[in-house]
Amino acid sequence: MAREALVIGASGMLAEVARWLAKEGWQVTVVGRDRQKLEQVRNGALNPGSVHLLALDYGQTETLRAAMAELVASRGPMELVVAWIHQTAPDALATVLAELSRPKQPFRLYHVCGSRAWKNPPAVHVPTTCAYQRVILGFVCEGEDARWLTNAEIANGVIRAIGEKAAQTIVGQVEPWERRPTY
Ligand SMILES: NC(=O)c1ccc[n+]([C@@H]2O[C@H](COP(=O)([O-])OP(=O)(O)OC[C@H]3O[C@@H](n4cnc5c(N)ncnc54)[C@H](OP(=O)(O)O)[C@@H]3O)[C@@H](O)[C@H]2O)c1
Repeated sequence: MAREALVIGASGMLAEVARWLAKEGWQVTVVGRDRQKLEQVRNGALNPGSVHLLALDYGQTETLRAAMAELVASRGPMELVVAWIHQTAPDALATVLAELSRPKQPFRLYHVCGSRAWKNPPAVHVPTTCAYQRVILGFVCEGEDARWLTNAEIANGVIRAIGEKAAQTIVGQVEPWERRPTY
């Protein structure tokens, strides 16, 4: 049976993660609102036939719930989920987890979080079938200056996290905290 992965927020900084998963043999469903941006993710993949588009607004809870149920019904249980969800949609992750846990099959969640998760880790109700792994996006100090991560650094960091399977991965650095960029 094909191994199924879901990448939420896949047409921005996680585009290369989705393409990498497809290259590694996963069937990857990519979520974002703009279908054209999702098509670009698929078109840039080495094996575009392994990338499946799911255009929706994860802020619309009932739409998201129905789409997750339909996804599991059509493609089977998701084995790996990478989620980058803006705080404007506080119910989205719980909705995804509730639907993906219905088949009672084990799956792995890589929850990609902004740097603030270092100080205030998000409270996530994790189903028993889900292995939860947090990826915190930090920053980079360069001499006297500090900057946020590039998309390539973020994608590579998430790919590293998927390989290492640690409970928490820091991409870049989160200390010294007072040196994080202010822009
Ligand atoms: N610590 C750090 O250094 C750090 C942390 C975070 C971000 N960043 C940087 O900041 C840039 C911008 O960040 P960003 O958050 O805009 O991330 P992004 O990954 O570039 O874009 C957000 C992704 O989520 C999707 N999305 C957004 N709202 C959605 C919704 N309501 N429903 C479904 N999908 C949705 C977007 O597609 P649609 O727009 O088509 O929906 C897109 O795929 C990033 O590219 C990154 O370089 C840096």
